[in-house]
Amino acid sequence: MTDWAKYRAEFPALASQAYLNTAAGAPMSRAAGTAGREYYEATVRDGDVHWDDWLARVELVRAQAAPLVGGSSQQIAFVQNCSAAMNLVAAELGGDGEVVLVRGDFPSVTYPWMVGGYDVKFVEPDIHGGADIEALAAACTDRTRAISVGWVQYRTGFRYDLNALSAICKKRGIKLVVDTTQGLGAVQFDAESLGVDYMVCSGYKWLTAGYGMGLLYAREPLDRTRRAAAGWRSSSDPYALISDDMNLSEDAPALELGHPPFAAVFALGAALEMQSEIGALAIETRVLHLSARLRQALSDAGLGVLPLSETDLRSGIVYAEAEADSTALRNELLDRGVYVSARGDGLRCSTHFYNDESDLAKLTEAFATLS
Ligand SMILES: Cc1ncc(COP(=O)(O)O)c(C=O)c1O
Repeated sequence: MTDWAKYRAEFPALASQAYLNTAAGAPMSRAAGTAGREYYEATVRDGDVHWDDWLARVELVRAQAAPLVGGSSQQIAFVQNCSAAMNLVAAELGGDGEVVLVRGDFPSVTYPWMVGGYDVKFVEPDIHGGADIEALAAACTDRTRAISVGWVQYRTGFRYDLNALSAICKKRGIKLVVDTTQGLGAVQFDAESLGVDYMVCSGYKWLTAGYGMGLLYAREPLDRTRRAAAGWRSSSDPYALISDDMNLSEDAPALELGHPPFAAVFALGAALEMQSEIGALAIETRVLHLSARLRQALSDAGLGVLPLSETDLRSGIVYAEAEADSTALRNELLDRGVYVSARGDGLRCSTHFYNDESDLAKLTEAFATLS
C-alpha cells in the first residue's frame, strides 16, 4: 500500500490550502527544491569545479526520464518549455505541407506550426474540447505531414486515445506529434508502444519539476542534413570543437544546443525519483480516483460538469461551468483557502497524487459558505 500521506508531506505548499490547481502549476517537493538549490550553493562555494559531475548527472536524469516517456535516453532532449520544443519539432519536419490541429488546443501546440511554414487545418472540437478521431482523419490530405494535439485538453481534461490516433497516422504515413504537458506524470504514457512520433512536455505541472524544464521525445533519429538550430553540443563530437564542420548528431540531445540548465535538470531528477518510487500505475489510479471524486464534489456544489460516456478517457483535470462570474468565484474560493483556476465560464480544478479527501472536503465547505 502506498503511503500517500508521506508523499503529501513532502509538498509543504499543500498544508496551507486545498491545492486543486496542478493544471496551472504544481508545487515542488522539498527534494526537488533542494536539488536545484544545492546546485547553486555548490557553484557559489566551489565555482565550476564540479562541471564533469554535473554533466554526468544530467545523463542520469535523462535515463530516469526514459521509462517515464517510453523511449531511450538518446531519444530524449531537455528543453526549456513546451513551446520551444514544439518549434523544434515543427522545424525538424521541414516546414512544408499541411498540419492538422484542433481549434481550442493550447497555443503552444498550434502557434509553432502556424509560424513554421505549414498550411494548418483546424478541426472543430466537441463539448469536451477534443476532436473526433474520424474528423481528424478526414481532415488529412495528400499534403498532410502531421497531426498535432494536446494529449490531455488543458481546460476540460479530455484525453485522446493515442492508440487510435497513431493508427490513423501510421495508415496515412504521417507523424503524430503530441503535447503531454497536461498528462505526463499523472497518467501512464509510453511513446514507443503508443506509436507517438514526437512528444513535447513542460515540466512544471504534473511532473512537479518547476519552471524552465521540459522534455522532447523524437522516435526517429534527427535529420542530419538540416537543423533549425545548432550549438556546440549538437555535434556528434562536441569536445572536438571544430568550428567549420558541424558533424551533426542524430540523437535528440543534440537539440539542447549548449550548456545544460543544471539546477532545473536536477530538480526534475528529484521529482522523477519520487514519481518512480511511487510508480506510474499507482499514480494514475489515484489521480483518476481523486478526479472522479472532484467531479462529484463540483456537481454536488451545483456546478455544471460535462456528462461523460463509458469510453471517455479522463485525466487529473475537471472542468465545471458556473452560473456566477468565474473569476469572482475563483477569487472567493481562494479567500477560503481553495486554489483553482477560472477558465471561460467555469472553473478548472485538478487533483494530483498528493491531493487527498481533505482537499475535496475543503472545496465542499467553501462552496457551502458562498452566498
Ligand atoms: C496543454 C499545454 N501545453 C503547454 C502549456 C505550457 O506551454 P509552455 O511550456 O510553452 O509555456 C500549457 C500551459 O497551461 C498547457 O496547458
